[in-house]
Amino acid sequence: MTIDMTRPAPEKEPERQYHFMDLLKEALEQEQTESGKTRTYSITTMGCQMNARDSEKLRGILEYIGYREAAREKDADLVIYNTCCVRENAEQKVYGKLGYLKGFKKQNPNLKICLCGCMMQEDAVLEKIQKSYPQVDLIFGTHNIYKFAELLATMEESGSRIIDIWQAHGEIVEDLPSLRKFGFKASVNIMFGCDNFCTYCIVPYVRGRERSRKPEEILKEIRDLAADGVKEIQLLGQNVNSYGRGLEEPITFAELLYKIAEIEGIERIRFMTSHPKDLSDDLIQAMRDIPQLMPHFHLPLQSGSSELLHRMNRHYDKARYLERAEALQAAVPGISLTTDIIVGFPGETEEDFEETLDVVRKVGFDSAFTFIYSPRIGTPAAVMEQAPEEVTKPRFDRLLKVLEEVIEENNQKRLHQTYHVLAESVSKNGMLTGRTETNQLVHFEAPECMIGQIVPVTLDESKIYYFIGHLERTCIIA
Ligand code: 5AD
Ligand code: SF4
Repeated sequence: MTIDMTRPAPEKEPERQYHFMDLLKEALEQEQTESGKTRTYSITTMGCQMNARDSEKLRGILEYIGYREAAREKDADLVIYNTCCVRENAEQKVYGKLGYLKGFKKQNPNLKICLCGCMMQEDAVLEKIQKSYPQVDLIFGTHNIYKFAELLATMEESGSRIIDIWQAHGEIVEDLPSLRKFGFKASVNIMFGCDNFCTYCIVPYVRGRERSRKPEEILKEIRDLAADGVKEIQLLGQNVNSYGRGLEEPITFAELLYKIAEIEGIERIRFMTSHPKDLSDDLIQAMRDIPQLMPHFHLPLQSGSSELLHRMNRHYDKARYLERAEALQAAVPGISLTTDIIVGFPGETEEDFEETLDVVRKVGFDSAFTFIYSPRIGTPAAVMEQAPEEVTKPRFDRLLKVLEEVIEENNQKRLHQTYHVLAESVSKNGMLTGRTETNQLVHFEAPECMIGQIVPVTLDESKIYYFIGHLERTCIIA
């Protein structure tokens, strides 16, 4: 590929990135005319919704340039891993994959391998990849993802490995392309980074300081999405409850929600993730008063022990968590509460663990992400005395058992009720699958043409982590 890098690039963003995208597009078109071949890509996304959203941006840029998604990773000309570093096993997977991709390079010498995402922001990881994984062609981090087109052009033009990692964030660059997975629902970043420094968590080190997008940029993006047919949006941030802090014109998360609710066409609003310490009464009131806000709240608990919560630097205790959960349940009857729980944080005693089980029972979660504590280098908890696996593994299994009981008890209460399900896709068993207002997964028989519609479905059977339901046919509009 020949790229004319001598053409002056604008200084300003996003114009600068469009300049590189156009250069790449021209070069790709020329290559295609000469060889008759279209370049393909494959993106593997690890970790959270933030990464999933970032991958949509990478996809948008690649499709703009003229790359097309490969049917299989092994057929792709550009293989991207958007990595996660929250727990160690996610990192091990990436190293495993790199070994495997080395073999692909032998078969396809034009194959380029690109790594990005949170893991790249860790010094030790970067050093290891630089030293031991020469097969990687392009590496960038979380702060400069918007520069992907420029980095790709530089890599193609120079023919050498490009590494660009920033230690801190720069400006928030708006208006770059993105390719959404679904036409009818979309995620929208409202803020980036995290300032909470929970002692087990690496996110503040790899995603940088908390910064909010301006409300007018968010509202514009959502208006455009609504015009494009999007019905459901999910607002994303590490701690959405502190949205607006640091903006020139102060605004709270609840205030932002009222503004979003005015946008015509957006029928459902969800958000992730909340921090119990910042969960305000205003937000609970908004949950009650804004009809488009779905009755589901993800409120990470982490531990039920006040002592452990203190050592995790969470700034709430067991009583406060229970009080917030009850306030949500009182304001929004039938609300589904979900959570994140860590088992085996350093120093966790049997009593601490039982406090966690107690909160699980008292709140009655509808589902939970459960994790065994994984020490992350550079975080305060990594140097605390670690609990042995013989202790953590049985606790983890006990937690799952209690969770399943609690979830099943809730599910039984939801049976035979009719929910409104946004039909998303066809599941493996050939049924349609979608989510209720309360974010519960349901499989139900319905024609494929219903994908993207909100349809009434009655829940018939609980499978613990999902339901089987049936479409209320009386309500079908032909
Ligand atoms: N070990 C285990 N789980 C962790 N999480 C964050 N850091 C760690 C860690 N070091 C979990 C928390 C968080 C979720 C996204 O990941 O529960 O809410
Ligand atoms: Fe990590 Fe705590 Fe920030 Fe969540 S709030 S990203 S757990 S530091």
